[in-house]
Amino acid sequence: MTDYITADVLVVGTGIAGCAAALAAAREGSDVLVATKAERPEDASTDWAQGGIAVSRDDPEGFKRDILAASSNTADPGAVDVLVENANDAVEDVLLETLGIEFDTAGGEFDSPGWDYGREAAHSENRILHVNAETGSHILRPLLSYLDDHDRVQILEDTAALDLITHEGRVHGVQLDRTPDGERSRTGYPVFAGSTVLATGGIGSLYPRSTNPTGSTGDGIGMAALAGAEIADMEYVQFHPTALDETSADVAEAADSDAMETVLISEAVRGEGAHLLNGNGERFMPAIHEDAELAPRDVVARAVARGRDETGEVRLDVSTFDFAAQFPDLAERCERRGVDPADGIPVAPCEHFLCGGIAVDDRGRASLDRLFAVGECARTGVHGANRLASTSLLEGLVWGLRAGETAVGNEPEPIEAADLLDSDPDLPPRFAAEKFTRLHRVMGEHVGLRRDSDGLARAAAVLRRLKGEVDAYVRTRTARDLYELRHASVTALLIARAAAENERSVGCHYLVDEPTESTATPADD
Ligand code: SIN
Repeated sequence: MTDYITADVLVVGTGIAGCAAALAAAREGSDVLVATKAERPEDASTDWAQGGIAVSRDDPEGFKRDILAASSNTADPGAVDVLVENANDAVEDVLLETLGIEFDTAGGEFDSPGWDYGREAAHSENRILHVNAETGSHILRPLLSYLDDHDRVQILEDTAALDLITHEGRVHGVQLDRTPDGERSRTGYPVFAGSTVLATGGIGSLYPRSTNPTGSTGDGIGMAALAGAEIADMEYVQFHPTALDETSADVAEAADSDAMETVLISEAVRGEGAHLLNGNGERFMPAIHEDAELAPRDVVARAVARGRDETGEVRLDVSTFDFAAQFPDLAERCERRGVDPADGIPVAPCEHFLCGGIAVDDRGRASLDRLFAVGECARTGVHGANRLASTSLLEGLVWGLRAGETAVGNEPEPIEAADLLDSDPDLPPRFAAEKFTRLHRVMGEHVGLRRDSDGLARAAAVLRRLKGEVDAYVRTRTARDLYELRHASVTALLIARAAAENERSVGCHYLVDEPTESTATPADD
């Protein structure tokens, strides 16, 4: 057998969910290997999360009601119970006691009136802990340094998982594209693990624009699907209503690659009282939903899209409070793109979060033995057809801890893993880049915020062909970009197919040719 390494628990991905799984497994005494394809482990969607992390405070039932209502009652009530009942303890144990994170507060004990609980759309009370609008990085960086210092945890950076190693319905680990010494492996380097936890994040890079980092290519979902794991709810792709509108004449070209990142204007800004105005300067949300700008995210995103279609633009009017004082980081990002918030911030919907993914139970167990999935790549049932704001960090934390605790105790079983082939055929120049461009175009045009049945059928057909073309090359070469493309094309096809098969508009899945049945959109079209 070729060289390999073993780990009690292998975690793929370094966002909050993967890190929480690693922390929990290490606490139980397991040796944990964490692999991330990012050159810097902090380059995960978590680091970009703005609004915050919702907690139950002293009203888990109220929190549950809000989650169910935002999902148009499609979330799984059992999964939501797990989330709301574990929210306070998970935050207190890991974020406050273990990591000492200082959320914005006037001081005091956990759940004392001293915390500056924020409000976001579709929450019936202020329950969101935050640090400015940069909450994700204030959580992730201490979490990563804690793991870095832990003797039972090893983190491999710039190391991508290419494929799962499976045998008779059991997952034994993954093939990495580098050895533990950082050498590129041309045939895949096996890690055999007692349990494998996928925490690879979302799918932003399947769309022309996203609020997520560019590495969000659906790797975990693609690998799990190819291995035969159950995948669910893929049609529910959430679009955030208020990303900076890159098409606006007010928005300057990005000066550098950092500035090219899509600027998200957190829902917390609407929570503070910002209003959405159309191109005629009219506030339109009160006529659409009784909660106006704080209606569920799917409703607001569609209303913003319609406002742009009908009147040319939509702006977020932040003159109702001191924007620069409340959101200094966002004010600075607007300024870097030449936008003066005093003129209203031009906004447009943008891909933000996948509510579906690898189907898991309340401990993060997938349908294949010894495979777990946590965070955005997992479908826990908590979000149903539309996620409530500031529940993604919480879901990642709660399910990450539960999966990490459950994943311990299995011995790694090295098996004869087939090498990935590497015959180095003549690959057309820019093959991966060109296929990605095609994939973005199809997803953006036909599988976006508003869909129609013909477009979805066309998208599924194009994506099926694209996947076939990609497969032909991936079988012969281990380049990372080809595997990303493979995972992206598998995941995109799953989204398009699920959307084509679901004839009912609900939550994030909105068919313009079918009347909406969403209970959360009383005045929507
Ligand atoms: C935001 O800050 O608006 C995003 C929060 C979330 O996606 O939950």
